[in-house]
Amino acid sequence: MEIKNILITGGAGFIGSNFINYILSNRNDAFVVNLDKLTYAGNLENLKSVEQKKNYQFVKGDITNYELVDYLFKKYSINYVINFAAESHVDRSILGSEIFYRTNVIGTNVLLEAAKRYCVKKFVQISTDEVYGSLGPEGLFTEHTPLSPNSPYSSSKASADLMALSFHHTYGLPVVITRCSNNYGPFQFPEKLIPLMIINSLNNKTLPVYGDGLNVRDWIYVTDHNKAVELVLEKGRVGEVYNIGASREMKNIEIVKLILSKLNKPIELIEYVKDRPGHDRRYAIDSTKIQNELGWKPGFEFEEAIGKTIDWYLSNKNWWERIINGSYKDYYNLQYGKN
Ligand code: NAD
Ligand code: TYD
Repeated sequence: MEIKNILITGGAGFIGSNFINYILSNRNDAFVVNLDKLTYAGNLENLKSVEQKKNYQFVKGDITNYELVDYLFKKYSINYVINFAAESHVDRSILGSEIFYRTNVIGTNVLLEAAKRYCVKKFVQISTDEVYGSLGPEGLFTEHTPLSPNSPYSSSKASADLMALSFHHTYGLPVVITRCSNNYGPFQFPEKLIPLMIINSLNNKTLPVYGDGLNVRDWIYVTDHNKAVELVLEKGRVGEVYNIGASREMKNIEIVKLILSKLNKPIELIEYVKDRPGHDRRYAIDSTKIQNELGWKPGFEFEEAIGKTIDWYLSNKNWWERIINGSYKDYYNLQYGKN
């Protein structure tokens, strides 16, 4: 299938930039317009390998900006949308929720309305497994698990999902939703568990483990997520939801210890800190549907991919040092400045 003019939002963030790098190095039928506000989490350094390409255009702007979004759909004859843009960090949503609802809900609404006006061929809404809430020790999230989001972040994402599905039901807009588990890999902003623990270890700072450290997340390498998104864009059935996950459940403390051991750092760097309010206990994804319907399966083993990820942070010290001394400085020093 030819995918011509794609609007990718949030393409300067972690997953979006990996997606753009991946798609532009794997196929030349796509023309990509990347609309990104460049919040603290957006970084054009992530896109150095594509910035000169003729089939790539960056636009700095906000998805809540109706006029700009309308102009871009018209100017570039947009026929596909992948909406990665979001405020994405649970802890920040607990500190202040307003921007989460503005970007993740209102912004998605602006994009859906434009997609309706310009009759796009497909609109992929990038959602998260966190919309399902928290699991007990057993069971997996399927696409039929009721939505039960617990944080301002996850409730904003669930709201966007419901809105997107309603646009399909009411207007026939060709919407597909993906719900992926926790990603890791290159270019992940160092507020999230894995890059934060790698960078703090390298800086000999303490590793703040929330609560008892026994919360479970289901980890997927970002490239595997992006291959799934490409398949959904091409072949996903409209009006459907697809879960994406690599069946790699890990307790947080296991990840932290693994990182310390790979970096030869002492276990004493671990510091158990006050738990996150409303902290979801366990996420785990059943991805049978996308495997059976679209033929997707994860390509990376956790052991290999976490090693690649650690190596990436070791060889890209400039990338993260610029972040922790720049857009992230105040937040980082507030949290970890004491040691
Ligand atoms: P990120 O925070 O690294 O990047 C988000 C990007 O969106 C940034 O480049 C930012 O500048 C941009 N952005 C924010 N507000 C914007 C706005 N109003 N207008 C335009 N651009 C804006 O996030 P990420 O980890 O790459 O996540 C991308 C998407 O994937 C999000 O929708 C998130 O909910 C979803 N997701 C993430 C994970 C994960 O583990 N990181 C897992 C499942 C789903
Ligand atoms: P995070 O990377 O923020 O992703 P999410 O909350 O969206 O799953 O956190 C992953 C897990 O790691 C989560 O259970 C919270 C925990 N965590 C810590 O224990 N310490 C930290 O400093 C951070 C950022 C997260």
